[in-house]
Amino acid sequence: MTKKLIMANWKMNLGLKDSIALASAYQEKFKNFTKADVVVCPSEFALSGVLKALKKSVALGAQNVFWQLQGAYTGEVSATMLEELGCQYVIIGHSERRQYLSESCRLVNLKLKSVLGNTKITPVVCVGENLAKRKANSHITFVSGQIKRALAGVKFDERLVIAYEPIWAIGTGVSATTADAQEMHAAIRSVLKRLYKEKGDNIRILYGGSVSALNAKELLKTPNVDGLLVGGASLKINDFGKIVNSA
Ligand code: PGA
Repeated sequence: MTKKLIMANWKMNLGLKDSIALASAYQEKFKNFTKADVVVCPSEFALSGVLKALKKSVALGAQNVFWQLQGAYTGEVSATMLEELGCQYVIIGHSERRQYLSESCRLVNLKLKSVLGNTKITPVVCVGENLAKRKANSHITFVSGQIKRALAGVKFDERLVIAYEPIWAIGTGVSATTADAQEMHAAIRSVLKRLYKEKGDNIRILYGGSVSALNAKELLKTPNVDGLLVGGASLKINDFGKIVNSA
């Protein structure tokens, strides 16, 4: 397996000035860091400002993409536009977009195909169950279904990344236990192996949901946890520094 992948998802939290300031702090903190791949995903409007503050040790990612490349799609940005801007990663199908913008598995699938087919960008597809599904013990079936729908008709590509983010753990301070993560990541690995045979072992599976400076190390030691997608804690340079250094 390649290096661990640690991604910061700033969501809609920082304006342009604050984004550039935090990106500069990342750059300073991680300038000699090569042990893991570090990526920052600021708001779309701050992408080029943040890129200017970054050098090679931190890569730029977007939080969303549209599935068409060009045309009358007000408010949207395409994969080729993100690539031109300097993005190397893009998050697809985050649960907040599924919840607030009705993003369906079909759209996730179209976006994924657009990114893989038209750019060199690494797509990070988010999946995860809500609390009701976990309580009903249908979390594995549900997440497996999300992955199969997201990857329908998608040939193996070594860029593919899956992020398991249980909705009940996002922004709540209640992370999944390492046992929860281990169970789900193993289930996701077996779906990937069913789809892509032994190549499925090469797809990185990230964990996300209340990752903190305190739990990052344990999570990263868990089998099949190939990296982390960090929300709240990525806004604090010292916490994010500790998380990255746990890789
Ligand atoms: P959180 O968010 O770390 O604040 O829980 C994670 C995410 O939604 O990517």
